Amino acid sequence: MKIAVAKGDGIGPEIMDAVIDVFNAAKVPLEYDFVDMGKWVFDKGFSNGMTAKAKDTIEELGILFKGPMETPKGKGVKSVNVTARKTWNTYANKRTFQTLSGVDTVFSKAGIPIDITIVRENIEDTYGGIEHMLTQDVALGRRFITRPGSMQVIRYAFEMAKKKGAKRITCGHKANIMKLTDGLFLEVFKEVAKEYPELKADDVIVDDLCMKLVSRPDLFDVVVLTNLQGDIVSDLCAGLVGGLGFAPSANIGDHISIFEAVHGTAPDIAGKNIANPTALLLSGLGMLHHLGLMEQAATIENALLYTLESGVHTGDFGDRATASLSTTAFAQAVIQNFGKLPSQNPKPSLANFYVTPTNFKLESNPMLQSHLNDHHKIVGVDFFIESAEQPQAIADKCSLHTTATLKLVTITNRGTQVWPSGSVFTNLINQYYCRFETVNESPLSQNDVIDLYRALAVNFKICSLEILNMWADKKAYSLAQGQ
Ligand code: NAI
Repeated sequence: MKIAVAKGDGIGPEIMDAVIDVFNAAKVPLEYDFVDMGKWVFDKGFSNGMTAKAKDTIEELGILFKGPMETPKGKGVKSVNVTARKTWNTYANKRTFQTLSGVDTVFSKAGIPIDITIVRENIEDTYGGIEHMLTQDVALGRRFITRPGSMQVIRYAFEMAKKKGAKRITCGHKANIMKLTDGLFLEVFKEVAKEYPELKADDVIVDDLCMKLVSRPDLFDVVVLTNLQGDIVSDLCAGLVGGLGFAPSANIGDHISIFEAVHGTAPDIAGKNIANPTALLLSGLGMLHHLGLMEQAATIENALLYTLESGVHTGDFGDRATASLSTTAFAQAVIQNFGKLPSQNPKPSLANFYVTPTNFKLESNPMLQSHLNDHHKIVGVDFFIESAEQPQAIADKCSLHTTATLKLVTITNRGTQVWPSGSVFTNLINQYYCRFETVNESPLSQNDVIDLYRALAVNFKICSLEILNMWADKKAYSLAQGQ
């Protein structure tokens, strides 16, 4: 079986070489096609950080094992890591965090075992990077949460939890504040949960989740979250089990999957042969499991756990009183321990079942078609305007363009209502939105919206607009704070 390997930047080549040494010593039946990706490829003039040949190879082989890659600083360059995850629709980011004996943490010392799998949505949310300056003082970012995108990742999380024999699956969210975006994610979670009655499915508001994770991490099993919240919560979980050096990650898609460590290129220690290869090795073990190479995975994992348990360590963790090993020496120590079992949680050696990545090309886009078919109408519009005037002056100008059927209902500043009522304590900035709604929810046409735009443009500098939709009898927009 052939897979694509990109060594990456900084410590990437050192830790990747160490992991491949371990794989070769364990006779892992894989061939490696090394591809050109990373900062050094950006520097050669490839604006997306990979060559066309690298892209073709990865698309053909379906599996990418990668080292960390540096995102060049400055505007106009997107992270190659994020580009890869999004381009190839690796919609689920799975990160496992387990107590490793030999890696002391406050929880291991207190005898509290941790075995948490975070599934983070990997494509949507604020990672679209869709941001605009509305005025020179105001930046606005868009956050996409979609029903089919949420469905894909949540279904993956439930299937994975079922296979893993998990007892509990938890949705972390902020639906109390972001009622439409996080609300949609939570709604899909509840829908999918009905298909898995054997799993205890519950939800926790993300701030409460963070508090509970640091006080009782042993109560959690599988946790599924949107992209940004999942990013933050998974680093928190890395801290629970000893830091980024022990945090593996898999980006799972229907065709292409990417396996990498959570940590970055560690430029401060690059080239010194002192980096800890454990996180990349654990990511590689996740890849072997994904490919059904269970025997070799068990040999390596048991040897790694035995090595950690016996106090062998690189400079970033472990007992400072004992000398730390270099990256290469640590890998050799793992190899020397093949055949040994750790005293805690030895892994069973299961038979290989050889999964061949499906060579599937996305020829149609099934997610394009919505399965919902409710009656749609436009019932209003929010105009985002730039103005340094007071709310009443803005309302007076808006009123010039209201009609018997189209009314100005609210004006907000930073999402807080400032007209028709508000507080003198609300600090204003130079950007408002003015919400026009139809009386009795009668429908507006797109041309009505354009006509209103033209009319308002006489009085205001318009920065943006949002259509107010209704599907069936449900208003599909949030209320202003205080409305
Ligand atoms: P980082 O994870 O590279 O480093 C943070 C700290 O952890 C540093 O002190 C570093 O020495 C240490 N560290 C990280 N991995 C280690 C290891 N295996 N062994 C021992 N110590 C380790 O994060 P930072 O500094 O924020 O990012 C550096 C670069 O990496 C940036 O260009 C960033 O964009 C990139 N990055 C790439 C990722 C990827 O390829 N998936 C993920 C995160 C960051």
